[in-house]
Amino acid sequence: MDLFEYQARDMFEAHGVPVLAGIVAHTPEEAKEAAEKIGGVTVVKAQVKVGGRGKAGGVKVAKTADEAFEHASAILGMDIKGHTVNTVMIAQGADIAEEFYFSVLLDRANRNYLAMCSVEGGVEIEVLAVERPDALAKVAVDPEIGIDQAKANEIVETAGFSAELAPKVAAVIIKLWDVFKKEDATLVEVNPLVRTGAGDILALDGKVSLDENADFRHPGHLDLEDAAAADPLEAKAKAADLNYVKLDGEVGVIGNGAGLVMSTLDVVAYAGENHGGVKPANFLDIGGGASAEVMAAGLDVILNDPQVKSVFVNVFGGITACDAVAKGIVGALAELGSAANKPLVVRLDGNNVEEGRRILNEANHPLVTLAATMDEGADKAAELANASK
Ligand SMILES: Nc1ncnc2c1ncn2[C@@H]1O[C@H](COP(=O)(O)OP(=O)(O)O)[C@@H](O)[C@H]1O
Ligand SMILES: [Mg+2]
Repeated sequence: MDLFEYQARDMFEAHGVPVLAGIVAHTPEEAKEAAEKIGGVTVVKAQVKVGGRGKAGGVKVAKTADEAFEHASAILGMDIKGHTVNTVMIAQGADIAEEFYFSVLLDRANRNYLAMCSVEGGVEIEVLAVERPDALAKVAVDPEIGIDQAKANEIVETAGFSAELAPKVAAVIIKLWDVFKKEDATLVEVNPLVRTGAGDILALDGKVSLDENADFRHPGHLDLEDAAAADPLEAKAKAADLNYVKLDGEVGVIGNGAGLVMSTLDVVAYAGENHGGVKPANFLDIGGGASAEVMAAGLDVILNDPQVKSVFVNVFGGITACDAVAKGIVGALAELGSAANKPLVVRLDGNNVEEGRRILNEANHPLVTLAATMDEGADKAAELANASK
């Protein structure tokens, strides 16, 4: 989960990273009030989860509270790279002498953490990384040790900070590592990290991505979610504890086990080539215990997707035997009643498959077609989807 800048600012502050005052506003009136409260020069900043807000006109300096009102009027409602601005942050204005860059992130390719730092911040760091890679220091961070004083010194030295600035920046980097570690982040980025005229080091813009797998350790992280932006189907699936990802196609897919579901997506996409180019509508892994309840929750999510024209249920009975899954499907259809209104192709195999098929045959539900193999099931589901496209 990516945070808004103001959420990152608050998190930084909680961990002792030096930041400036910032107050969130949703209307120009609130912006004016916030600017009065902060006093002096402020900066009105669009709160959208994309970079380059400054360039897009979403970051504006206000000398007075009235100016903050004006800027907020212009910025609220603005579209920045497809994101509508609903919120601004009124930040205390900084007297910037120099802009730097720092980030620490999960380096998946190297199974490690990586810190990046540059004395040339503020600019688009992707451009710097490509055009002048030498100006961007990259330092591996051992997860067992993290960024201690020695590692922070190495980072600022590699980045080329002056002897005077190096210890000040290193101290802030250690605090930023604290944010990364204690909040279970996968990315903490500060651009720009600045030196003010008075010689202070401040984090002026923060980007934080949190590892949702660690949410159980952080009950407070749930409050950071942007409910307004969440896909309603994904939100519904999440509430039911389902592993669901919405895709673009027409064939709903339910399977047990991530590997089986992934290959089902491939097989459906392949079969779709013979049936008007239909594609999978989602990824949904109902896991090992394919109970009636879980099956109903899964079908409920998928059938509520208006793009879905047919559903392919592909289950391999293991610990949960096929007869239990079959009962789950029958139970789910009974539970959903008239909400179940799209054809279902079911392929069962594995543990106790005979009994599973018998149960489905006996139920003889008008929407359900049994398929003997995965390929046959995918083909049938694609055909049905194409027919009602
Ligand atoms: N509080 C502030 N005071 C003064 N200048 C600021 C402040 N916040 C941002 N800026 C200036 O605006 C630029 C862009 O803002 P930033 O928050 O980095 O947004 P983005 O990265 O999305 O463009 C910064 O590089 C900095 O020069
Ligand atoms: Mg920035």
